[in-house]
Amino acid sequence: MYFPTYRPRRLRANAKLRAMTRETHLSVDDLIYPLFVVPGEGVRHQIASMPGVYHLSKDKLLAECKEVEALGIPAIILFGLPEAKDEAASGAFAENGVVQEAIRALKEAGSELVVITDVCLCEYMSHGHCGVVKDGQILNDVTLELLAKTAVSHAEAGADMVGPSDMMDGRVKAIRSSLDAEGYADTPIMSYAAKYASAFYGPFREAADSTPAFGDRRTYQMDVPNADEALREIQLDIEEGADIVMVKPAMAYMDVILRAKTEFGYPLAAYNVSGEYSMVKAAAGKGWIDEKRIVMEILTGIKRAGADMILTYHAKDVAGWLE
Ligand code: PBG
Repeated sequence: MYFPTYRPRRLRANAKLRAMTRETHLSVDDLIYPLFVVPGEGVRHQIASMPGVYHLSKDKLLAECKEVEALGIPAIILFGLPEAKDEAASGAFAENGVVQEAIRALKEAGSELVVITDVCLCEYMSHGHCGVVKDGQILNDVTLELLAKTAVSHAEAGADMVGPSDMMDGRVKAIRSSLDAEGYADTPIMSYAAKYASAFYGPFREAADSTPAFGDRRTYQMDVPNADEALREIQLDIEEGADIVMVKPAMAYMDVILRAKTEFGYPLAAYNVSGEYSMVKAAAGKGWIDEKRIVMEILTGIKRAGADMILTYHAKDVAGWLE
């Protein structure tokens, strides 16, 4: 292929030719919308560092989900902020927990959204870590039991899929066997398989009130510079029974998304996380960037890298733009 025989500009000459030769299409079907549910009634409180994202009580969540469904977005992922936190994360698996109640309300209201739940303990632990803490250590194996209980309680409440985000070793296996034993063999697991210890989660920790009271998450979340290790994490989760694997965050980890897709050809999600969202919102708010074009470019890039689905706080805007 040499110039002047080959001239790439020929197929860029007008919008129709560009549309015909386009390789990647972002679709509303690719989107998963994260939502934060809180106790109480009538609460719709904007998260300061995430303009357009709210703490929602159950009643307001129902209204929000109607909108989400009307926009054609297929799925949501729920995060819960409990009334009280303790050292055993008991709010995470309480039958009347904030997420469990929200799922029941959605199902009773006839919502047809795919309801995914974030399975983690950090929002429910007084110390804000994703596992049980003893003598300053985050314990792995005793945490698995609590995670499995949490996943089962979500399934019992009617969750369509569970998403473990804790990064304990062996959690997918523990959750899969508990779900199977309790009669939920058909509930899929979307595992946060390659989840990095990232500064991009900053705004989320305000949203979920889950900043660790001491230390950080580096003993369980992945070290930023590693990619071969991400493939091992993903392979483990697939072997343990994950149905969808996730890379998180997205933008600084496009290489991992590409390698994960190429290596495994498995259903792949990417999480366009809170900090990625807030940076765009802040710059757009100042008029420094074209928000719509920037968001579409970011999400199309994530998809081009190999993601089949994208968890993103931009989902509602994008669904509107795609219409
Ligand atoms: C819980 C969890 C986190 C996110 C999703 N699930 C925070 C963390 O690990 O600190 C981050 C999501 C985001 O930043 O948008 N473990």
